[in-house]
Amino acid sequence: MKSIIMSRLLNSQSSLSRLYTIALSRNQRSLSTSSNGLDDPLKSEEAEPLNVKPPSTQKVLVFGGNGFVGSHVCREALERGFTVCSLSRSGRSSLRDSWADRVVWHKGDLLSPDSLKDALMGVTSVVSCVGGFGSNAHMYKINGIANINAVKAAAEQGIKRYVYISAADFGLVNYLLQGYYKGKRATEMELTKKLGHGGVILRPGFIHGTRQVGRMKLPLSVIGAPLEMILKHAKMLTGIPLVGPLFIPPVHVTSVAKVAVNAATDPTFPPGIVDVYSILQHSEQKLA
Ligand SMILES: NC(=O)c1ccc[n+]([C@@H]2O[C@H](COP(=O)([O-])OP(=O)(O)OC[C@H]3O[C@@H](n4cnc5c(N)ncnc54)[C@H](OP(=O)(O)O)[C@@H]3O)[C@@H](O)[C@H]2O)c1
Repeated sequence: MKSIIMSRLLNSQSSLSRLYTIALSRNQRSLSTSSNGLDDPLKSEEAEPLNVKPPSTQKVLVFGGNGFVGSHVCREALERGFTVCSLSRSGRSSLRDSWADRVVWHKGDLLSPDSLKDALMGVTSVVSCVGGFGSNAHMYKINGIANINAVKAAAEQGIKRYVYISAADFGLVNYLLQGYYKGKRATEMELTKKLGHGGVILRPGFIHGTRQVGRMKLPLSVIGAPLEMILKHAKMLTGIPLVGPLFIPPVHVTSVAKVAVNAATDPTFPPGIVDVYSILQHSEQKLA
């Protein structure tokens, strides 16, 4: 009798998980057409094997979700069962991976705060992966002004958790890239002012992984991974005057994404600055 009851229970559980799998794969297809309004002939009809937790009530907005770091943040948040949307000037990621069909893609510009309003609706946390290089004036604009606009818009919307991907101090390099670092630090100050207990600032050094540039895949880990292995155990070298910061270890993009999603969705994650060594440490821990 016991074994009959057990086998029925097991059957009903596997039916439930089958139902969930079917529902989610249908949902993926309906999202892929409704969010993009396009029928893509190259897109595979088969859903990839699911590696996601059941849906959560948290909705994560990724600013710059189609960039190198942003796309990994979107993917990580989806795998952990969160609803994910992204905002950037060009909207949908050019990547043809199936996870991209599960993101709601918004077009907007952080330099035009009105264009953020729709994307912020119903959002519980934000991760900003918007930043860039160029002239000093441009770098200040994108790493500073644009991101400050985003912090203000999120605070006005009552969002409680906000993660900003900033950058480590590189000593002499800071001087050469003044606009970049001034912009980063100005955004950090605004975040601390507006979201105090809910603001988390990640300060990675060089981020490695596979970066998509047009049709090419750049394997940055060829250099980044061995350097990370060596330098993460050589923190004392960063204390050498002038050149010390050049020994800051690179960090893999998936580690940054894991920590960013955890910081955005776990209210017990401590607010404030998370340096490279803490990013490495947090990413090695079993995340919530
Ligand atoms: N990669 C590294 O080694 C590294 C190291 C330390 C820190 N970081 C920081 O990490 C963040 C992400 O870097 P990444 O390498 O992933 O950069 P990325 O690939 O160039 O991505 C930048 C993202 O920002 C979006 N964006 C740019 N201007 C925007 C605007 N005005 N409004 C809305 N979206 C805008 C871009 O999309 P659209 O062009 O479609 O708008 C893109 O999605 C940056 O803040 C960077 O400073 C990176």
